[in-house]
Amino acid sequence: MEIANLHLQNFRNYKDEKVLFSPGINVLQGQNGQGKTNILEAIYYLLTGKSYRVRKEKELILWGEDAFHIFGDFLALDRKLSLESHYLDKRKIVKINNVPCRKLSDYVGTINVVFFSPDDLIMVKGGPAERRRFLDFHIAQLYSRHVHILNAYNKVLHQKAALLKSPFEPSKISNIEIWNEQLMDLGSKVILNRWKFTQVLAQKSKEIYDQLSSGEEELSLNYLALGHQNVEEALHEFPIMLKEKMKQEIERQVVLVGPHRDDLNFQLNGKSARVFASQGQQRSIVLSLKLAELEVIFLEKGEYPLLLLDDVLSELDIFRREYLLEFIKPIRQALITMTSAEKPLTEVAALYRVDKGHIGRII
Ligand SMILES: Nc1ncnc2c1ncn2[C@@H]1O[C@H](COP(=O)(O)OP(=O)(O)O)[C@@H](O)[C@H]1O
Ligand SMILES: [Mg+2]
Repeated sequence: MEIANLHLQNFRNYKDEKVLFSPGINVLQGQNGQGKTNILEAIYYLLTGKSYRVRKEKELILWGEDAFHIFGDFLALDRKLSLESHYLDKRKIVKINNVPCRKLSDYVGTINVVFFSPDDLIMVKGGPAERRRFLDFHIAQLYSRHVHILNAYNKVLHQKAALLKSPFEPSKISNIEIWNEQLMDLGSKVILNRWKFTQVLAQKSKEIYDQLSSGEEELSLNYLALGHQNVEEALHEFPIMLKEKMKQEIERQVVLVGPHRDDLNFQLNGKSARVFASQGQQRSIVLSLKLAELEVIFLEKGEYPLLLLDDVLSELDIFRREYLLEFIKPIRQALITMTSAEKPLTEVAALYRVDKGHIGRII
């Protein structure tokens, strides 16, 4: 996957800016607050329909304006794809090769991208919702059906939650049971998708972490389905737990059983990384995960995703930095941001200066 060019209009601090990229490593250099991350954010938004920083599109519009437009040309395997993303009149419009896409889920997964920023530490340190989002997002990039299953599951979840909050009437129990059937049917699919993806990711990230720690520590990833490490056990227990917790669910008016409460566990040498790992170890876990993601996408899609690295090199020690740069050598293209003060990289295909909402190539 490769981005050939990008055109931004009224996006963040860019009024009307065009840039051409090269295959290989593209470095975006500039002082803080000039618009480096905004470029990566625009590319990520174009490819996924989401910003990882904000939930409201409004915040992405250049202050004082009322719409933004992003255009980019990409090369995926040997196909050329022109993507457009517009936000105007409070609506998103997405086009692939000039054809509007009806649903965003039709479009997610067309192009694969891996974004890596220092904020990704939240994957290890944050709550389970962060990790579920990580899993679901990456599964959706590989199997677009996961989005439909997840949406259907969430719909049932909302319906059941609404029912739990409604006043008691004799039919309430049997209505809950009807929703439970659907919750279990869709929930089991969500669990299986997440579990399968975790298996593959776990194997790859374990190998990578092993190299990063010179074989000193062992990383393991476990998907905890309904509190169980064993997925078959979880699926077997699902109907039993739904029955057992029904009374409690009615009392508390919340849905207590289902994959919307699941988690992904990281362990180093068998101990919870969230609780016990040092900052450096947590960084290595995130690095292992990101590199594993690259490999998994490569295996599934037959080509590497576009890699966006935001300010991560400065966070890594020399050994990890070298490891990362060596690892990404076979990748078709990577965009890397860094501040002007940092040591320049060797083997750079193109170097850009980012300055107050302008980007220009200098090498
Ligand atoms: N909606 C917006 N309109 C105009 N400027 C914005 C908007 N959102 C952020 N900015 C500006 O963008 C700059 C931050 O850009 P960013 O890409 O995060 O910088 P960096 O180069 O440090 O990565 C800040 O100067 C901020 O004020
Ligand atoms: Mg930045």
